Amino acid sequence: MSEWLQCIGCERRFDASEIRYTCDCGELLSVERDAMPDRAIFDSRLASRKTIDRSGVWRFREAVLNVEENEIVTHPEGSTRLYERGWGVGSGEWEKTPETSSHSPRPTPHSPFPILFKHEGENPTGSFKDRGMTVAMTQAKRLGARAVACASTGNTSASLAAYAAQAGLRAIVFIPAGKVATGKLAQTLAYGATALHIRGDFDAAMQLVREASGRLGIYLVNSINPFRIEGQKTIVWELLQDLEWNAPDWIVVPAGNLGNTSAFGKALCEAFDAGWITKMPRLASIQAAGANPFYRSYVEAFAQRHRIAAETIASAIRIGDPVSHRKAVSAIQLTNGVVEQVTDDELMRAKREIDEMGIGCEPASATTLAGVKKLRAAGVMRDSERIVCVLTGHLLKDTDAIMRNVPPQRTIEIDATMDAVERALA
Ligand code: F0G
Repeated sequence: MSEWLQCIGCERRFDASEIRYTCDCGELLSVERDAMPDRAIFDSRLASRKTIDRSGVWRFREAVLNVEENEIVTHPEGSTRLYERGWGVGSGEWEKTPETSSHSPRPTPHSPFPILFKHEGENPTGSFKDRGMTVAMTQAKRLGARAVACASTGNTSASLAAYAAQAGLRAIVFIPAGKVATGKLAQTLAYGATALHIRGDFDAAMQLVREASGRLGIYLVNSINPFRIEGQKTIVWELLQDLEWNAPDWIVVPAGNLGNTSAFGKALCEAFDAGWITKMPRLASIQAAGANPFYRSYVEAFAQRHRIAAETIASAIRIGDPVSHRKAVSAIQLTNGVVEQVTDDELMRAKREIDEMGIGCEPASATTLAGVKKLRAAGVMRDSERIVCVLTGHLLKDTDAIMRNVPPQRTIEIDATMDAVERALA
Protein backbone atom coordinates (compact mmCIF):
# COMPACT_ATOMS: atom_id res chain seq x y z
CA MET A 1 0.00 0.00 0.00
CA SER A 2 1.54 3.33 -0.91
CA GLU A 3 1.16 6.78 0.63
CA TRP A 4 2.10 10.22 -0.59
CA LEU A 5 1.67 13.91 0.22
CA GLN A 6 -0.70 15.81 -2.04
CA CYS A 7 -1.39 19.51 -2.40
CA ILE A 8 -5.04 20.30 -1.60
CA GLY A 9 -4.94 23.08 -4.23
CA CYS A 10 -2.96 22.06 -7.33
CA GLU A 11 -2.86 18.33 -6.44
CA ARG A 12 0.89 18.09 -6.97
CA ARG A 13 2.33 15.01 -5.27
CA PHE A 14 5.38 14.70 -3.04
CA ASP A 15 7.10 11.74 -1.46
CA ALA A 16 5.77 11.00 2.06
CA SER A 17 9.34 11.06 3.37
CA GLU A 18 9.89 14.66 2.29
CA ILE A 19 9.89 17.22 5.12
CA ARG A 20 7.41 19.82 3.92
CA TYR A 21 4.14 21.23 5.21
CA THR A 22 2.96 23.24 2.19
CA CYS A 23 3.16 23.01 -1.58
CA ASP A 24 5.26 25.44 -3.65
CA CYS A 25 1.92 27.04 -4.58
CA GLY A 26 1.44 27.85 -0.87
CA GLU A 27 -1.47 25.46 -0.15
CA LEU A 28 -1.58 22.81 2.58
CA LEU A 29 -0.73 19.16 1.98
CA SER A 30 -2.69 16.07 2.86
CA VAL A 31 -1.64 12.43 3.17
CA GLU A 32 -3.29 10.24 0.55
CA ARG A 33 -3.15 6.48 -0.02
CA ASP A 34 -4.22 4.14 -2.78
CA ALA A 35 -6.23 1.61 -0.79
CA MET A 36 -8.32 1.34 2.37
CA PRO A 37 -8.85 -1.89 4.34
CA ASP A 38 -12.14 -3.51 5.22
CA ARG A 39 -13.47 -2.21 8.54
CA ALA A 40 -13.72 -5.79 9.88
CA ILE A 41 -10.00 -5.72 10.62
CA PHE A 42 -10.52 -2.84 13.06
CA ASP A 43 -13.28 -4.70 14.89
CA SER A 44 -11.17 -7.85 15.13
CA ARG A 45 -8.54 -5.90 17.09
CA LEU A 46 -10.93 -4.85 19.86
CA ALA A 47 -10.29 -8.05 21.79
CA SER A 48 -6.51 -7.89 21.39
CA ARG A 49 -4.12 -7.12 24.29
CA LYS A 50 -1.38 -5.86 21.95
CA THR A 51 -0.41 -2.22 22.68
CA ILE A 52 -0.91 -0.98 19.13
CA ASP A 53 -4.29 -2.68 18.89
CA ARG A 54 -5.37 -1.08 22.17
CA SER A 55 -4.42 2.33 20.82
CA GLY A 56 -7.49 4.00 19.35
CA VAL A 57 -5.20 5.46 16.70
CA TRP A 58 -3.10 2.47 15.66
CA ARG A 59 -6.06 0.09 15.69
CA PHE A 60 -6.82 1.87 12.38
CA ARG A 61 -3.17 1.88 11.26
CA GLU A 62 -3.63 0.82 7.61
CA ALA A 63 -5.62 4.04 7.13
CA VAL A 64 -3.35 6.25 9.28
CA LEU A 65 0.32 5.65 8.44
CA ASN A 66 2.24 2.98 6.58
CA VAL A 67 4.92 2.19 9.14
CA GLU A 68 6.72 -0.75 10.71
CA GLU A 69 5.14 -1.64 14.05
CA ASN A 70 8.42 -1.26 15.95
CA GLU A 71 8.77 2.36 14.74
CA ILE A 72 5.53 3.51 16.37
CA VAL A 73 5.75 5.97 19.29
CA THR A 74 2.58 5.32 21.31
CA HIS A 75 1.49 5.73 24.93
CA PRO A 76 -1.09 4.20 23.80
CA GLU A 77 -3.77 6.85 23.18
CA GLY A 78 -7.43 6.96 22.15
CA SER A 79 -9.95 4.27 23.13
CA THR A 80 -11.81 7.04 24.94
CA ARG A 81 -15.32 6.60 26.31
CA LEU A 82 -18.61 7.57 24.76
CA TYR A 83 -21.05 8.90 27.39
CA GLU A 84 -24.80 8.92 27.00
CA ARG A 85 -26.98 11.45 28.83
CA GLY A 86 -30.63 12.44 28.72
CA TRP A 87 -31.37 16.01 27.66
CA GLY A 88 -31.47 18.48 30.50
CA VAL A 89 -29.44 16.33 32.90
CA GLY A 90 -27.22 18.47 35.12
CA SER A 91 -28.35 21.98 35.92
CA GLY A 92 -29.49 22.63 32.38
CA GLU A 93 -32.79 23.72 31.17
CA TRP A 94 -32.95 24.78 27.57
CA GLU A 95 -32.20 28.42 27.21
CA LYS A 96 -34.00 30.81 24.91
CA THR A 97 -32.43 31.19 21.49
CA PRO A 98 -29.59 33.68 21.87
CA GLU A 99 -29.25 36.63 19.52
CA THR A 100 -25.78 35.76 18.25
CA SER A 101 -27.04 32.93 16.02
CA SER A 102 -27.42 33.31 12.27
CA HIS A 103 -30.12 30.65 12.37
CA SER A 104 -33.68 31.77 13.06
CA PRO A 105 -35.26 30.91 16.44
CA ARG A 106 -37.93 28.32 17.19
CA PRO A 107 -39.38 27.00 20.49
CA THR A 108 -36.99 24.77 22.44
CA PRO A 109 -37.43 21.06 21.76
CA HIS A 110 -37.23 17.81 23.71
CA SER A 111 -35.68 14.79 22.07
CA PRO A 112 -36.41 11.11 22.64
CA PHE A 113 -32.73 10.41 21.96
CA PRO A 114 -29.93 10.84 24.48
CA ILE A 115 -27.04 13.09 23.60
CA LEU A 116 -23.64 11.44 23.30
CA PHE A 117 -20.26 12.80 24.40
CA LYS A 118 -17.01 11.31 23.10
CA HIS A 119 -14.49 12.34 25.76
CA GLU A 120 -11.12 13.01 24.18
CA GLY A 121 -9.97 14.49 27.49
CA GLU A 122 -9.42 10.86 28.49
CA ASN A 123 -6.29 10.65 26.37
CA PRO A 124 -2.91 10.22 28.14
CA THR A 125 -2.14 13.95 28.37
CA GLY A 126 -5.77 14.97 28.79
CA SER A 127 -6.66 16.14 25.28
CA PHE A 128 -7.36 14.92 21.74
CA LYS A 129 -3.94 16.18 20.67
CA ASP A 130 -2.37 12.83 21.59
CA ARG A 131 -4.10 11.23 18.61
CA GLY A 132 -2.32 13.44 16.12
CA MET A 133 0.87 13.61 18.13
CA THR A 134 1.52 9.85 18.18
CA VAL A 135 1.49 9.90 14.36
CA ALA A 136 3.52 13.10 13.95
CA MET A 137 6.10 11.91 16.48
CA THR A 138 6.37 8.51 14.81
CA GLN A 139 6.98 10.32 11.52
CA ALA A 140 9.50 12.68 13.18
CA LYS A 141 11.56 9.72 14.37
CA ARG A 142 11.42 8.00 11.01
CA LEU A 143 12.63 11.16 9.30
CA GLY A 144 15.55 11.40 11.72
CA ALA A 145 14.43 14.64 13.40
CA ARG A 146 16.41 15.65 16.50
CA ALA A 147 14.03 18.33 17.75
CA VAL A 148 10.29 19.00 17.42
CA ALA A 149 8.37 22.23 17.86
CA CYS A 150 4.87 23.69 17.88
CA ALA A 151 2.96 26.86 18.66
CA SER A 152 0.29 26.16 21.21
CA THR A 153 -2.48 27.42 23.45
CA GLY A 154 -1.38 24.65 25.84
CA ASN A 155 -2.73 21.25 24.87
CA THR A 156 -0.58 20.63 21.80
CA SER A 157 2.48 21.68 23.81
CA ALA A 158 1.68 19.24 26.64
CA SER A 159 1.13 16.44 24.16
CA LEU A 160 4.25 17.27 22.17
CA ALA A 161 6.32 17.33 25.37
CA ALA A 162 5.08 13.90 26.51
CA TYR A 163 5.61 12.20 23.16
CA ALA A 164 8.98 13.86 22.57
CA ALA A 165 10.09 12.62 25.99
CA GLN A 166 9.11 9.11 24.99
CA ALA A 167 10.79 9.40 21.59
CA GLY A 168 13.95 10.96 23.05
CA LEU A 169 13.66 14.17 21.00
CA ARG A 170 14.18 17.76 22.11
CA ALA A 171 10.88 19.58 22.58
CA ILE A 172 10.45 23.32 21.99
CA VAL A 173 7.10 25.05 22.36
CA PHE A 174 6.07 28.56 21.33
CA ILE A 175 3.28 29.79 23.58
CA PRO A 176 1.51 33.15 23.87
CA ALA A 177 3.00 34.66 27.05
CA GLY A 178 0.53 34.71 29.95
CA LYS A 179 -2.29 33.22 27.86
CA VAL A 180 -1.98 29.50 28.60
CA ALA A 181 -3.89 27.78 31.44
CA THR A 182 -1.54 26.96 34.33
CA GLY A 183 -2.21 23.20 34.29
CA LYS A 184 -1.25 22.94 30.63
CA LEU A 185 1.93 24.96 31.06
CA ALA A 186 2.94 22.95 34.13
CA GLN A 187 2.36 19.72 32.22
CA THR A 188 4.45 20.93 29.28
CA LEU A 189 7.36 21.88 31.52
CA ALA A 190 7.10 18.73 33.64
CA TYR A 191 7.53 16.47 30.61
CA GLY A 192 10.74 18.35 29.86
CA ALA A 193 9.97 20.81 27.05
CA THR A 194 11.62 24.21 26.64
CA ALA A 195 8.93 26.91 26.56
CA LEU A 196 9.42 30.13 24.60
CA HIS A 197 6.87 32.61 25.96
CA ILE A 198 6.12 34.78 22.95
CA ARG A 199 5.04 38.37 23.58
CA GLY A 200 2.11 38.16 21.24
CA ASP A 201 -0.96 36.01 20.60
CA PHE A 202 -1.21 32.41 19.37
CA ASP A 203 -1.29 33.55 15.75
CA ALA A 204 2.01 35.39 16.20
CA ALA A 205 3.53 32.32 17.86
CA MET A 206 2.29 30.17 14.98
CA GLN A 207 3.88 32.42 12.39
CA LEU A 208 7.14 32.48 14.31
CA VAL A 209 7.39 28.72 14.79
CA ARG A 210 6.80 28.16 11.07
CA GLU A 211 9.68 30.44 10.26
CA ALA A 212 11.91 29.05 13.02
CA SER A 213 11.35 25.40 12.12
CA GLY A 214 12.31 26.06 8.50
CA ARG A 215 15.36 28.12 9.44
CA LEU A 216 16.61 25.90 12.29
CA GLY A 217 15.74 22.49 10.86
CA ILE A 218 13.27 21.60 13.60
CA TYR A 219 10.35 19.29 12.77
CA LEU A 220 7.04 21.15 13.07
CA VAL A 221 4.16 19.19 14.61
CA ASN A 222 1.30 21.68 14.58
CA SER A 223 -1.79 20.51 12.69
CA ILE A 224 -0.36 22.16 9.57
CA ASN A 225 1.67 18.94 9.59
CA PRO A 226 -0.54 16.55 7.57
CA PHE A 227 0.44 13.53 9.70
CA ARG A 228 -1.27 15.14 12.71
CA ILE A 229 -4.51 15.17 10.74
CA GLU A 230 -4.14 11.46 9.95
CA GLY A 231 -4.10 10.65 13.67
CA GLN A 232 -7.02 12.92 14.52
CA LYS A 233 -9.23 11.21 11.94
CA THR A 234 -9.44 8.30 14.35
CA ILE A 235 -11.62 10.29 16.77
CA VAL A 236 -14.39 9.98 14.21
CA TRP A 237 -13.61 6.40 13.22
CA GLU A 238 -13.54 5.28 16.83
CA LEU A 239 -16.87 6.92 17.59
CA LEU A 240 -18.37 5.29 14.50
CA GLN A 241 -16.98 1.98 15.72
CA ASP A 242 -18.42 2.70 19.20
CA LEU A 243 -21.81 3.02 17.47
CA GLU A 244 -21.26 -0.24 15.56
CA TRP A 245 -20.77 1.78 12.36
CA ASN A 246 -24.29 3.26 12.55
CA ALA A 247 -23.43 6.85 11.72
CA PRO A 248 -25.09 9.53 13.88
CA ASP A 249 -26.84 12.49 12.26
CA TRP A 250 -24.45 15.07 13.66
CA ILE A 251 -20.89 15.25 14.95
CA VAL A 252 -20.15 18.45 16.84
CA VAL A 253 -16.63 19.78 17.38
CA PRO A 254 -15.03 22.93 18.82
CA ALA A 255 -13.12 24.97 16.25
CA GLY A 256 -9.92 26.92 16.78
CA ASN A 257 -6.99 26.30 14.45
CA LEU A 258 -9.37 24.03 12.46
CA GLY A 259 -7.19 20.91 12.53
CA ASN A 260 -9.97 18.81 14.01
CA THR A 261 -12.69 20.12 11.71
CA SER A 262 -10.39 19.26 8.78
CA ALA A 263 -9.54 15.82 10.18
CA PHE A 264 -13.20 15.02 10.85
CA GLY A 265 -14.17 15.92 7.29
CA LYS A 266 -11.39 13.74 5.86
CA ALA A 267 -12.30 10.87 8.20
CA LEU A 268 -15.96 10.99 7.21
CA CYS A 269 -15.27 11.14 3.47
CA GLU A 270 -12.80 8.27 3.70
CA ALA A 271 -15.18 6.16 5.82
CA PHE A 272 -18.02 6.79 3.39
CA ASP A 273 -15.92 6.10 0.29
CA ALA A 274 -14.55 2.89 1.83
CA GLY A 275 -18.09 1.71 2.61
CA TRP A 276 -17.52 1.64 6.39
CA ILE A 277 -20.66 3.78 6.79
CA THR A 278 -23.64 4.17 4.49
CA LYS A 279 -24.84 7.55 5.73
CA MET A 280 -22.81 10.76 5.88
CA PRO A 281 -23.17 12.57 9.24
CA ARG A 282 -23.23 16.37 9.21
CA LEU A 283 -20.42 18.24 10.92
CA ALA A 284 -21.15 21.17 13.22
CA SER A 285 -18.06 23.21 13.92
CA ILE A 286 -18.47 25.62 16.85
CA GLN A 287 -16.41 28.74 17.55
CA ALA A 288 -16.28 31.16 20.45
CA ALA A 289 -17.92 34.43 19.35
CA GLY A 290 -14.77 36.39 20.20
CA ALA A 291 -12.60 34.06 18.12
CA ASN A 292 -14.83 33.45 15.14
CA PRO A 293 -12.98 33.96 11.83
CA PHE A 294 -14.33 30.67 10.45
CA TYR A 295 -17.91 31.51 11.43
CA ARG A 296 -17.59 34.92 9.75
CA SER A 297 -16.46 33.22 6.60
CA TYR A 298 -19.27 30.62 6.81
CA VAL A 299 -22.04 33.23 6.98
CA GLU A 300 -20.66 34.71 3.75
CA ALA A 301 -20.77 31.26 2.08
CA PHE A 302 -16.97 31.14 2.47
CA ALA A 303 -16.57 34.00 0.01
CA GLN A 304 -13.50 35.20 1.90
CA ARG A 305 -11.10 34.19 4.65
CA HIS A 306 -11.07 36.32 7.81
CA ARG A 307 -8.19 37.07 10.15
CA ILE A 308 -9.09 38.73 13.44
CA ALA A 309 -7.64 39.58 16.87
CA ALA A 310 -9.20 36.84 19.02
CA GLU A 311 -10.46 37.05 22.61
CA THR A 312 -12.40 34.45 24.61
CA ILE A 313 -12.38 32.82 28.03
CA ALA A 314 -11.81 29.49 26.23
CA SER A 315 -8.06 30.05 25.91
CA ALA A 316 -7.55 26.81 23.93
CA ILE A 317 -9.39 28.32 20.97
CA ARG A 318 -8.25 31.96 21.27
CA ILE A 319 -7.15 31.87 17.64
CA GLY A 320 -7.80 34.51 14.98
CA ASP A 321 -6.05 33.13 11.89
CA PRO A 322 -6.60 29.35 11.71
CA VAL A 323 -4.01 27.58 9.56
CA SER A 324 -6.30 24.80 8.31
CA HIS A 325 -8.99 27.19 7.00
CA ARG A 326 -9.13 25.79 3.49
CA LYS A 327 -9.27 22.13 4.56
CA ALA A 328 -12.00 22.99 7.05
CA VAL A 329 -14.09 24.72 4.34
CA SER A 330 -14.03 21.45 2.37
CA ALA A 331 -14.96 19.49 5.50
CA ILE A 332 -18.07 21.63 6.02
CA GLN A 333 -19.04 21.57 2.35
CA LEU A 334 -18.54 17.81 1.87
CA THR A 335 -20.57 16.91 4.96
CA ASN A 336 -23.32 19.47 4.40
CA GLY A 337 -22.10 20.86 7.70
CA VAL A 338 -22.71 24.09 9.59
CA VAL A 339 -20.59 26.54 11.58
CA GLU A 340 -22.02 28.22 14.69
CA GLN A 341 -20.67 30.65 17.27
CA VAL A 342 -21.37 30.86 21.01
CA THR A 343 -20.63 33.59 23.52
CA ASP A 344 -18.38 33.06 26.54
CA ASP A 345 -21.51 33.10 28.75
CA GLU A 346 -23.15 30.42 26.66
CA LEU A 347 -20.11 28.17 26.62
CA MET A 348 -19.45 28.56 30.34
CA ARG A 349 -23.11 27.71 31.10
CA ALA A 350 -22.79 24.63 28.92
CA LYS A 351 -19.51 23.74 30.62
CA ARG A 352 -21.20 23.82 34.00
CA GLU A 353 -23.90 21.49 32.69
CA ILE A 354 -21.36 19.03 31.31
CA ASP A 355 -19.45 19.20 34.59
CA GLU A 356 -22.65 18.59 36.57
CA MET A 357 -23.47 15.56 34.44
CA GLY A 358 -20.41 14.06 36.12
CA ILE A 359 -18.46 14.17 32.87
CA GLY A 360 -16.58 17.47 32.90
CA CYS A 361 -14.46 19.22 30.29
CA GLU A 362 -12.40 22.35 29.73
CA PRO A 363 -14.15 25.53 28.48
CA ALA A 364 -13.34 25.12 24.75
CA SER A 365 -14.95 21.67 24.71
CA ALA A 366 -18.23 23.06 26.02
CA THR A 367 -18.75 25.09 22.84
CA THR A 368 -20.18 21.81 21.52
CA LEU A 369 -23.16 21.61 23.88
CA ALA A 370 -23.68 25.38 23.71
CA GLY A 371 -23.71 25.08 19.91
CA VAL A 372 -26.12 22.15 19.95
CA LYS A 373 -28.57 24.15 22.07
CA LYS A 374 -28.55 27.00 19.59
CA LEU A 375 -28.81 24.76 16.56
CA ARG A 376 -31.68 22.78 18.09
CA ALA A 377 -33.48 25.93 19.12
CA ALA A 378 -33.11 27.23 15.57
CA GLY A 379 -34.45 23.98 14.11
CA VAL A 380 -31.22 23.17 12.29
CA MET A 381 -30.80 20.07 14.46
CA ARG A 382 -34.05 18.15 14.87
CA ASP A 383 -35.52 16.19 17.80
CA SER A 384 -35.33 12.94 15.87
CA GLU A 385 -31.59 13.31 15.19
CA ARG A 386 -28.71 11.59 16.97
CA ILE A 387 -25.95 13.93 18.04
CA VAL A 388 -22.39 13.22 19.21
CA CYS A 389 -20.40 16.04 20.83
CA VAL A 390 -16.64 15.62 20.94
CA LEU A 391 -15.20 16.91 24.22
CA THR A 392 -11.63 17.85 23.41
CA GLY A 393 -9.99 18.51 26.78
CA HIS A 394 -10.12 17.31 30.40
CA LEU A 395 -11.85 19.25 33.18
CA LEU A 396 -8.57 19.65 35.11
CA LYS A 397 -6.82 21.40 32.22
CA ASP A 398 -8.22 24.78 33.25
CA THR A 399 -9.12 24.90 36.94
CA ASP A 400 -8.96 28.71 37.05
CA ALA A 401 -11.97 28.84 34.75
CA ILE A 402 -13.85 26.54 37.14
CA MET A 403 -12.98 28.41 40.33
CA ARG A 404 -14.11 31.72 38.79
CA ASN A 405 -17.44 30.11 37.95
CA VAL A 406 -18.35 28.11 41.09
CA PRO A 407 -21.67 29.12 42.72
CA PRO A 408 -20.76 30.74 46.08
CA GLN A 409 -23.17 28.55 48.10
CA ARG A 410 -21.12 25.50 47.14
CA THR A 411 -17.93 26.45 48.92
CA ILE A 412 -18.19 27.42 52.57
CA GLU A 413 -15.41 28.00 55.09
CA ILE A 414 -16.41 27.20 58.71
CA ASP A 415 -15.02 26.72 62.21
CA ALA A 416 -14.06 23.15 63.15
CA THR A 417 -17.23 22.56 65.21
CA MET A 418 -20.33 20.40 64.73
CA ASP A 419 -22.46 23.49 65.27
CA ALA A 420 -20.87 25.20 62.33
CA VAL A 421 -21.39 22.14 60.12
CA GLU A 422 -25.08 22.04 60.99
CA ARG A 423 -25.53 25.75 60.35
CA ALA A 424 -23.70 25.55 57.01
CA LEU A 425 -25.83 22.67 55.76
CA ALA A 426 -29.19 23.93 57.10
N1 F0G B 1 -10.37 22.11 22.12
C1 F0G B 1 -9.22 22.11 22.82
C2 F0G B 1 -9.26 21.64 24.21
C3 F0G B 1 -8.02 22.55 22.20
O1 F0G B 1 -6.90 22.54 22.89
C4 F0G B 1 -8.06 23.00 20.86
C5 F0G B 1 -6.86 23.47 20.20
C6 F0G B 1 -9.30 22.97 20.19
C7 F0G B 1 -10.42 22.52 20.85
C8 F0G B 1 -9.43 23.42 18.79
O2 F0G B 1 -9.01 22.44 17.90
O3 F0G B 1 -7.36 23.78 16.66
O4 F0G B 1 -8.12 21.59 15.83
O5 F0G B 1 -9.63 23.55 15.78
N2 F0G B 1 -5.77 23.64 20.79
C9 F0G B 1 -4.50 23.97 20.12
C10 F0G B 1 -3.35 23.87 21.09
C11 F0G B 1 -4.53 25.21 19.34
O6 F0G B 1 -2.32 24.51 20.88
O7 F0G B 1 -3.46 23.14 22.07
P1 F0G B 1 -8.50 22.86 16.44
